[in-house]
Amino acid sequence: MLATAQPVLRRFWYPVIPIELLQGRPQSFTLLGEPLVLWLDADGKPSVVRDRCCHRYTPLSQGIVVDGNIRCPYHGWQFNSKGCCVVVPQAPDSPIPENYRVQSFQCQERYGYAWVCLGDGLDEILNIPEAKDPSYRLIHAFYETWHCSGLRLIENVCDHGHFHFVHNQTLADRENPVSSPHNVLEKTERGFYFESILFMHNNPHMEKNVGSSQKTMKIIRKINWCMPFGLHLQEMMDGKELVQVSITYATPINDSSCQMVRFLFRNDTEAEAKAADIITHEGLIFSEDRAILETIDYDVPLDLNEEIHMATDKPGILMRHKLAALLASHGEIEQRRTAA
Ligand code: FES
Ligand SMILES: [Fe+2]
Repeated sequence: MLATAQPVLRRFWYPVIPIELLQGRPQSFTLLGEPLVLWLDADGKPSVVRDRCCHRYTPLSQGIVVDGNIRCPYHGWQFNSKGCCVVVPQAPDSPIPENYRVQSFQCQERYGYAWVCLGDGLDEILNIPEAKDPSYRLIHAFYETWHCSGLRLIENVCDHGHFHFVHNQTLADRENPVSSPHNVLEKTERGFYFESILFMHNNPHMEKNVGSSQKTMKIIRKINWCMPFGLHLQEMMDGKELVQVSITYATPINDSSCQMVRFLFRNDTEAEAKAADIITHEGLIFSEDRAILETIDYDVPLDLNEEIHMATDKPGILMRHKLAALLASHGEIEQRRTAA
């Protein structure tokens, strides 16, 4: 599936940039192949329009923010958050024609990020109950470009077959590649619910972050997949109070790259586990995933007859089923790089 060639994917909300990166300057971001410029308007709200001035196609992201508008660097025209040109310095006393405009898109701030939807929204921005719970702290963990498709990244988090190999020294059960048979996998309105048990090998990093010295730890994982490229994952360690909720989005930049956006909610304190230590450990694990995922063909086939599947691939299989159904229900045919 080529993400940029499936228009229905434009109808979902994606986190595209941390709000703090927009302080004082505009930023560019490519979402599903669409070049965008984001900035904060006069009220501090994020705005997004196509990153191409309607006058001479100059990237507006090279400009600056003036009075809450984005100002083109070439001739200084200013555009508001609706994409309308509101200032033409060369003709200050003339009315501005209506076609002096650039396309704008829906944009909202949530959880410290600007979220963008390029079309008629099919869903709402993910609701995260823990974000309103004062017993949880928020940790912004990762914001980085991965050169793999969003589906590969999201599937990987639900793939219990790879831990023993890819994460053998960082978290996996080193002796046993067979994962626990305890699994619940149910369809939900927005994707699926996947509950599983993972046995993890403890190490000094993890010991610090979860406060346990047990050699092997039993982790209960509860994943909600938010179609197409988002995950809400709750992890609990057997016998401990600690709960970590991680939100992972593989925001699609184009067909072969995505922005890995990951933030955490934890019911412990900085004194109990330093955010920097948690990020270091997670960074180690994700760098192992990334090293593999960036070598794999980004054109993931939704047809199950192409790749071969095993029992631990059930979540990935259901992702393919549901995405294929999504395309079909919107009259789309799966687009591929080459004929299947
Ligand atoms: S190119 Fe943008 S104002 Fe002329
Ligand atoms: Fe992994």
